[in-house]
Amino acid sequence: MQHSNIIDAGNYPVYIGAEVFTIMENLLHMQKFNKSRFLILVDENTRRHCLQKILEKVRPLADAGIIRIKSGEKHKDLKSCSIIWQHLIDEKVDRHTVLANLGGGVISDVGGFAAATFKRGIRYINIPTSLTGQIDAAIGGKVGIDYKQLKNQIGLFADPQAVFIHPEFLSSLDEEHLLGGFAEIIKHGLIMDAAFWDQIKQTPFDQVSEWPELISHSARIKASVVKADPFERKYRKILNFGHTIGHAVESLIINNIEYPMTHGRAVAVGMICESYLSYKRLGLAPDQLSEIVDYIMANYQHVRFTDSQLDSIMEHMAHDKKNEQGQIMFSLLQSIGYARINISCEPGLIRESLRYYQDLR
Ligand SMILES: NC(=O)c1ccc[n+]([C@@H]2O[C@H](COP(=O)([O-])OP(=O)(O)OC[C@H]3O[C@@H](n4cnc5c(N)ncnc54)[C@H](O)[C@@H]3O)[C@@H](O)[C@H]2O)c1
Repeated sequence: MQHSNIIDAGNYPVYIGAEVFTIMENLLHMQKFNKSRFLILVDENTRRHCLQKILEKVRPLADAGIIRIKSGEKHKDLKSCSIIWQHLIDEKVDRHTVLANLGGGVISDVGGFAAATFKRGIRYINIPTSLTGQIDAAIGGKVGIDYKQLKNQIGLFADPQAVFIHPEFLSSLDEEHLLGGFAEIIKHGLIMDAAFWDQIKQTPFDQVSEWPELISHSARIKASVVKADPFERKYRKILNFGHTIGHAVESLIINNIEYPMTHGRAVAVGMICESYLSYKRLGLAPDQLSEIVDYIMANYQHVRFTDSQLDSIMEHMAHDKKNEQGQIMFSLLQSIGYARINISCEPGLIRESLRYYQDLR
């Protein structure tokens, strides 16, 4: 594994490690920020656990204005954007203003979107504080919100100026969200790094201790993919493995059906179903399918869906952004470490994959 503290994501740097506060301070002192005012976007949890560290350790941010929105996926919405836009208007910000998104994937998605659309775009930086944020959401410039129960329906590509990953922020993150982010680490191994997967599968989630190394390696995988295909024309779609079904499952939460479901838990369900589709459509070897299913089932609680929830999952998939000419498209595994994009699957087979998951327990 590599240990340098800078990752190349294409148009902007991703800094990682214990020194990122110093690096951030130096960067924000640079000429391109010398007319800038800074505002920090937080939710109640990152305000409580993370904000003070930033205010104390990064001098240019010490007197930044603070914007607060409520935490959670159900606040990744237009109302949160309105709060941010109104604050920017009240503060009479100009286009030199920089928004610092301090939080998990919801904060970087909403904050990036609000920044990119305000006055046709003000600059923003990401300071991800959740595992999902650090290895995934904060890198890649995909920003957006959910709309009318549909995930990520409104959004655009808009790169941050820089991303600063401080793994120690995770010390206050609850286990549920750590487990959620871990699903994306698993995905990174499965889609493009068999050796990384071999390493992951040695250790159950609750015994992982080397978080900074896992984060660094996983963030590098994400950055390398988005650098190669920033606008998701082709290759970047491999990151969608587990997400076509995963997003549809996650949409159940937005519908307020009572479920203990994070984005990552939904992706874990999606990865099992889509590994089954990979076996059926691309000939993923049965022993590799079992290896994936066994590891995920050992680490993620099984979710039981009612028949009407299964119908609802199928219905949500009809809105997936990757669909082409009415066909539901997937990124699937040909083998562990090698994913292929644009694989269509019939609704009957997709339902079969959900039933395969249901029957696992
Ligand atoms: N844009 C992308 O490329 C991309 C990629 C992956 C996921 N996402 C999005 O990210 C979201 C999921 O990310 P998430 O799991 O980070 O969600 P989140 O932002 O809701 O954070 C999870 C919870 O952890 C709290 N939290 C965050 N950091 C904390 C810390 N250091 N200490 C204590 N509590 C902390 C938050 O307040 C929240 O309650 C989804 O909306 C998903 O669609 C986007």
